[in-house]
Amino acid sequence: MKPHAHSTEFSLHTLLACPACEAKPALVGGGIAGPWNCEYCGRTYRKAERGYHLVPDRLPEPLERHQALWEALQKNGSLCYELAPELNLFRKGSTEAEAFIDFMKLEGVVLDIGCGPQSWQPAYIDPAAQIEYVGLDPLAGSSLREFTFVHGLGECLPFVAAGFDNIVISSSLDHMMDFRRGLQEAARVLKSKGHIYIAMHEVDDEAENTQLLRRLADISLRTARQVVNGFRTMGLRRTYDYLRQATSLRIPKGAKDLFHVYFPTVEDVTHELFKNGVAVTKTGDCPGFLLLQGQKR
Ligand SMILES: C[S@@+](CC[C@H](N)C(=O)[O-])C[C@H]1O[C@@H](n2cnc3c(N)ncnc32)[C@H](O)[C@@H]1O
Ligand SMILES: [Zn+2]
Repeated sequence: MKPHAHSTEFSLHTLLACPACEAKPALVGGGIAGPWNCEYCGRTYRKAERGYHLVPDRLPEPLERHQALWEALQKNGSLCYELAPELNLFRKGSTEAEAFIDFMKLEGVVLDIGCGPQSWQPAYIDPAAQIEYVGLDPLAGSSLREFTFVHGLGECLPFVAAGFDNIVISSSLDHMMDFRRGLQEAARVLKSKGHIYIAMHEVDDEAENTQLLRRLADISLRTARQVVNGFRTMGLRRTYDYLRQATSLRIPKGAKDLFHVYFPTVEDVTHELFKNGVAVTKTGDCPGFLLLQGQKR
């Protein structure tokens, strides 16, 4: 596919599917501008100023029990991304972002699941890459996106099967209500031979208390790093405001920390991908993250 600036808008509507129907039927009618209909359930979807609005109006039953906790965590996240994107999202030109860019070979139509609430294209997407980038996130964001944006949920991707050449999941798998379902969906919308790239926090499955100690050490280290980075990139005033507000947030019952329900391990992710026809073909490191590349059969 030959990418050019406006073709994503054009091609994307042909990939849209009903996020509320299990079989994910393609949406019909409306052409490029919509609205589009689901012929199965009769729901109508449209493109709003903010982007394609394709969040399911009701969660599938298995997700419902996680909904309240997930919403509480999303509220914490959204405040922190808003106050200090520098500390909570990949930073432009950072070692992490550059390492992730080098790790990926992006081509064709690329779907980024959990792209974040910010208006700019994420820092781990090379601005010079000849791709058609589509970002999806359940947070609508407070300002208009500078890229093609789909307001949607990773576990109920609003796309037909095998529509994307590459999938990126950066630091968002551990935010999902059900990462298994998220990976299953990612594999479904990926083309045969297509690549999926995942950046995730590495957690090993040692004994609970060792893990707890590690996590405490990790959290204090991350906090210390955040304070230092904050002063450097945001100045005293904003760092102080951020820390004051972030430290007053509550960890909801059942969560691991302010943002995460749990941390899937590399084994969990590899296994789930494999079950869905995606083999892990490469791993890599970037500070604070483990990188995985998978290829679909
Ligand atoms: C730490 S941010 C990562 C943002 C960006 N990918 C980055 O690495 O800079 C985590 C993102 O995951 C999104 N997220 C949370 N639950 C999700 C879900 N069920 N499906 C897709 N994305 C989700 C959040 O809204 C948030 O924007
Ligand atoms: Zn439907």
